[in-house]
Amino acid sequence: MGFMELAKERYSVRKYLDEPVEQEKVDLILEAARLAPTAVNYQPFRVYVLQSDEARAKAARVCRCTFDAPVVFLVCSDERRAWKSQTERNYSTGEMDASIVCTHMMLEAWELGLGSCWVRLFSVADVQRAFSLPHYIVPRCMLPVGYAHPDGGPYRPWHDVYRPLDELVVTL
Ligand SMILES: Cc1cc2nc3c(=O)[nH]c(=O)nc-3n(C[C@H](O)[C@H](O)[C@H](O)COP(=O)(O)O)c2cc1C
Repeated sequence: MGFMELAKERYSVRKYLDEPVEQEKVDLILEAARLAPTAVNYQPFRVYVLQSDEARAKAARVCRCTFDAPVVFLVCSDERRAWKSQTERNYSTGEMDASIVCTHMMLEAWELGLGSCWVRLFSVADVQRAFSLPHYIVPRCMLPVGYAHPDGGPYRPWHDVYRPLDELVVTL
């Protein structure tokens, strides 16, 4: 599949079949994460693969958008390793780095025939507490992944609403 085709076809899946995701596919999604660009190539991220019933239930308790997916990736930045600006106070690229990692994972999932949904509807503190994460491991997003249910689930229409380029782009 060409990149533009993938970009056009992918949409956020919020309803999944009750079917497991093959381990080879999980591994490929993680490899796509590993290959993501990060500031200075510091690779300041950690991905938790929530696959057991216990881990998924824990995620569902702190986030109402895990959609009962068979796998939920919890993508965190590792702020010990993230690039920090010397001129801008408190600026780290951790969130940006983790976002690129999650984007790679989301697109690779689609390439493998799997749906996913980027999710940020959680409290960082609640997720840290639920998974006993140290303060420097900061949850940035969750990515539920699985086979899309054919009826599409809720909110699918959002996918087709795009602003025209002249509202979004300034050429100087
Ligand atoms: C930063 C970010 C946070 C998001 N958080 C949520 C979320 O918490 N719950 C959810 O259902 N969708 C969430 N989404 C998915 C967006 O709603 C979705 O990508 C957008 O409506 C476009 O639809 P599409 O992905 O189907 O093209 C999030 C997406 C992004 C990029």
